[in-house]
Amino acid sequence: MYRVLLIHGPNLNMLGMREPDIYGNLTLDSINERIRMHAIELDIEIDIMQSNSESAIIDAIQQSNNKYQALIINPGAYTHYSIAIRDAVSSVKTPCIEVHLSNIHSREEFRQKSVIAPVCQGQIAGFGFYSYILALNATKHLVKES
Ligand code: DQA
Repeated sequence: MYRVLLIHGPNLNMLGMREPDIYGNLTLDSINERIRMHAIELDIEIDIMQSNSESAIIDAIQQSNNKYQALIINPGAYTHYSIAIRDAVSSVKTPCIEVHLSNIHSREEFRQKSVIAPVCQGQIAGFGFYSYILALNATKHLVKES
């Protein structure tokens, strides 16, 4: 048993209503329910938060140090320009996985670059809610390695 913190960034609270052709019909609550069920199967203790605020996300990353064995983050639009979130990720020892519902590499040019991914262990994008499930599976490997 180990602990994982999952951070959903801005506008992900709008899932289900927001551009369903890109992000799907599932609400954030129903995605979180699926993630929690999978965490139970993998014997992972998971805390999940969502914030639209860059500072709340940074505070959560800083406070995760020594409390969690892995971080999973979907930074939303902050992915593409928040050096502050990138610095927070690289300031903690906890390994981090970046997740996206959509395949950001096949979208507008401004979405194809992540300033955060280079300081993460890896990035999973394009599988809808299943990107989070894949990230949880990947934490098993990460925690075994560390
Ligand atoms: C997203 C991709 C981002 O470009 C976008 O700003 C989001 C969602 C995704 O999960 O596909 O808010 O992070």
